[in-house]
Amino acid sequence: MSERALNPSPTAIGIDIGGTGIKGGIVDLSAGKLIGERVRIDTPKPATPAAVAEVVAQIVSELAARAEAPEAQGPVGVAFPAIIHRGVARSAANVDKSWIGTDVDALFTERLGRTVHVMNDADAAGLAEARFGAGEGIEGTVLVITLGTGIGSALIHDGVLVPNVELGHLEIDSAVAETRASASARERDELSWKEYAKRLQRFFSHVEFLFSPTLFIIGGGISKRAEDYLPRLSLDTPITVATSKNNAGIVGAALQWGLSQP
Ligand code: BGC
Repeated sequence: MSERALNPSPTAIGIDIGGTGIKGGIVDLSAGKLIGERVRIDTPKPATPAAVAEVVAQIVSELAARAEAPEAQGPVGVAFPAIIHRGVARSAANVDKSWIGTDVDALFTERLGRTVHVMNDADAAGLAEARFGAGEGIEGTVLVITLGTGIGSALIHDGVLVPNVELGHLEIDSAVAETRASASARERDELSWKEYAKRLQRFFSHVEFLFSPTLFIIGGGISKRAEDYLPRLSLDTPITVATSKNNAGIVGAALQWGLSQP
């Protein structure tokens, strides 16, 4: 991000693409907060690059029409649920396989007619939390774990994000972790909170052993239900929920434009 020009505007549009919904909002870059209501549209099925680009364009045009919108040609930040290397999607665990190899920056920049930068969705949430949320000012290793359709992860060390860390794809007990411990796995297997907490315990204990973090931060929609599972977890590492709850992805995506360094 260091080579990127600083956005002179104090606001930017952030978009978070998820398996079930695509959400966007205008973000105050100096406070790391949404200004006004967010816009949400169901993720199209199938969620092909062209179909998703249409929805993103619809959300951006709705936000751009607001009085508080950033300048018309202002850049847009996007959070996407896959490995993103230099704007190109390199995986597609929970999205249409046709995303693999797609230059997402180029696709959205062309469709929107304004500069777009994409980053991994959990990294976006991690960035937001490290700058303005539960991870602000925390030294050492902070791990932001998002529990949703999959499991996303962001590793921040002394405030610096290490991108594309995929802890949801760790193999634990012969299974890919997110297939057992994501929020959607809880629903699929109709688990009680007690049963689900056991699976989370297995995941977090293993990750704790591997990384010795200073703090775990939980993000994703399920962070709203933290009282149902957090008290059941027994870890040496403090564990808390993302300050911006489910909006961390939108905020972090937009923050790409308010930073001179990661
Ligand atoms: C993907 C990650 C993503 C996470 C949360 C995982 O399946 O591999 O890149 O961050 O889901 O959406």
